[in-house]
Amino acid sequence: MKIIATITLLAALGMISIGCVNTKDTTLSKASIQFDNSYFYDNDGKFLEDKAKEAYIAVMKYHSYPVYDVVKKDLWVSDYGTGKFAELGLGAYCFKNNEEASYMLMDMFLLPNQMLPEHWHLKTEKNPAKDEGWLVRHGESWVVGEGEANLPANVVIPECHMEGKATTSHAVLCKAGDWAQLNKPLARHWQFAGPEGAIINEVANVHDNAGVRHSDQAINDHFLGK
Ligand SMILES: [Fe+2]
Repeated sequence: MKIIATITLLAALGMISIGCVNTKDTTLSKASIQFDNSYFYDNDGKFLEDKAKEAYIAVMKYHSYPVYDVVKKDLWVSDYGTGKFAELGLGAYCFKNNEEASYMLMDMFLLPNQMLPEHWHLKTEKNPAKDEGWLVRHGESWVVGEGEANLPANVVIPECHMEGKATTSHAVLCKAGDWAQLNKPLARHWQFAGPEGAIINEVANVHDNAGVRHSDQAINDHFLGK
């Protein structure tokens, strides 16, 4: 009786678990962030934003990253009109974009081996060209931009992006804790997540959607609502 009472008390305190799946089982965790592309679309091919958000939340949980209520509610997700979200897309939540004082903080999320399309940032009527840097917090991401071509074989640009091409191919592998930054404003850049996805803090002087341009014409048109 005494032993049972002790076990019950410990379970109530959350110190042990009884009859629960071991949540530290990496096999289970790894399986939970692998998604087939069809998961993100209905029978008519419509992109299902809720499913995309679910997938990024799974990535957050996989990496024991906090799932803030504001992020759960307002996470921005996009497949950039490609119909290939599992291969190309982004999740982003901007905590602050202070145009007056010129600072910005954003969290970015990528699924395993998902590409963030190549783009650059123009000066707009309201803001200077965006200058940005990235701190990978979990997983890993290849940060790609101008410079000597050194793209490794395991970074495969999906066909839905310029038929498998990009204009820049100088890649820097950033693991958790690694920092990379734009070599200069107006430079084109893109990212490609590692096999466990990526959670990235982005800091910048400002973000202005009106100044974003993409190398892929179809993606550019979609982003600008053309
Ligand atoms: Fe950017």
